[in-house]
Amino acid sequence: MPALVLLGAQWGDEGKGKATDLLGGSVDYVVRYQGGNNAGHTVVVGDQKYALHLLPSGILSPGCTPVIGNGVVVDPAVLLSELSGLNQRGVDTSKLLLSGNAHLITPYHTTVDKVTERFLGKRKIGTTGRGIGPTYADKINRVGIRVQDLFDESILTQKVEAALDFKNQVLAKLYNRRAIATEQVVEELLGYADQLRGYVADTTLVLNDAIDAGKVVLFEGGQGTLLDVDHGTYPFVTSSNPTAGGACTGAGVGPTKINRVIGILKAYTTRVGAGPFPTELFDEDGEALRTIGGERGVTTGRDRRCGWFDAVIARYATRVNGLTDFFLTKLDVLTGWEQIPVCVAYEIDGERVTELPYSQTDFHHAKPVYEMLPGWSEDITKAKTFADLPKNAQRYVKALEEMSGAPISAIGVGPGRTETIEINSFLS
Ligand code: GDP
Ligand code: IMO
Ligand code: MG
Repeated sequence: MPALVLLGAQWGDEGKGKATDLLGGSVDYVVRYQGGNNAGHTVVVGDQKYALHLLPSGILSPGCTPVIGNGVVVDPAVLLSELSGLNQRGVDTSKLLLSGNAHLITPYHTTVDKVTERFLGKRKIGTTGRGIGPTYADKINRVGIRVQDLFDESILTQKVEAALDFKNQVLAKLYNRRAIATEQVVEELLGYADQLRGYVADTTLVLNDAIDAGKVVLFEGGQGTLLDVDHGTYPFVTSSNPTAGGACTGAGVGPTKINRVIGILKAYTTRVGAGPFPTELFDEDGEALRTIGGERGVTTGRDRRCGWFDAVIARYATRVNGLTDFFLTKLDVLTGWEQIPVCVAYEIDGERVTELPYSQTDFHHAKPVYEMLPGWSEDITKAKTFADLPKNAQRYVKALEEMSGAPISAIGVGPGRTETIEINSFLS
């Protein structure tokens, strides 16, 4: 089973970090293929808690080679500080491989991200302010700066100049901000070159060779399916492709090489930032999910919006990703509810709809149609097998599986590495 993709099936924060870390010990390479330090992945190992933003969660497993693929956008200052933070905690990061084709987030991208949001006012996306959108925009506009540019001062200067030519006009004339000097940016970026040089590799070649040699390669998505720029709730999305196809373009590995695609699915739903969210709760149930689930952003510290499980979204994730399995997380958070509503369809302008609406207008009008499932009150955090779960928790999982269109192969019952029920091995 050499190549697997692990990705978010909802709006991010499903517990991808924990799931990746769990598999890390049996995997040779863990690869980030899109996004950047907008991600926030919490991993709990024993009594240690790690918050990772840019590095693949596999970095915590000795023996596993972490890779940042060409599709990722890299803030070099964040990368270096994350590496040194882990080194101080005794984690060996020397195996990291960084694609020379990955694009760099520079200070002007972060500035543009923040001023654009401010300019949008109440129409803002609620971005993480990490410069993600502007960096991908420059990549597509062919005025981006890549990791490999750090090693050629003349090319770097020309490219920064080209990128700033237009941006400075916008910053000064539209946003009333001071123009950014090319030399200042070039000097800062050159300061990272020597520190990053040792990590840079032709990651596409390394990964294809690894797969051909029968090594196990895990592609770890950031964000989630509904935040995908093509398949998500556009324009309330991130600027990359977290969906399964993104692993191919973002790592340079063909779709025929990928054997399994695992969707990480929270037992309820959360979202950070603006945009439609049919099952969102504004009552004490929503508050209880937020408190019990600890639903506060790892990257921005913002409260996450919370709601009941949405099977329409889960089915959609199965379709657009070709999911082979689900990893259901945070089932323990639902302990204590007498009845748990699950959204099985939407009502849109008086009509019942069971597939994700194709038009944005319809999705904004979608009202959840709930089915009530019986809850449980027993503590499930010590459960090791499916049979250890109370009957109603088993029923809940089985119902979700039936509605979502792929087998649930693992269940999270707590944040720790060991607080997981494994039903089918992901690596067989
Ligand atoms: P990611 O962005 O998908 O990696 O998810 P985050 O780390 O942003 O958010 C998930 C949170 O849930 C983290 O605080 C995890 O430690 C925690 N978590 C993951 N799985 C479980 C689980 O099964 N039960 C509980 N209670 N917490 C979990
Ligand atoms: P992980 O990997 C949840 C959201 C932001 C905003 C939108 C666009 O931890 O699941 P961006 O800064 O990417 O341009 O913001 O996407 N967003 C996330 N929401 N989890 C994430 O990552 C996210 N990364 C971005 O809140 O709504
Ligand atoms: Mg997160």
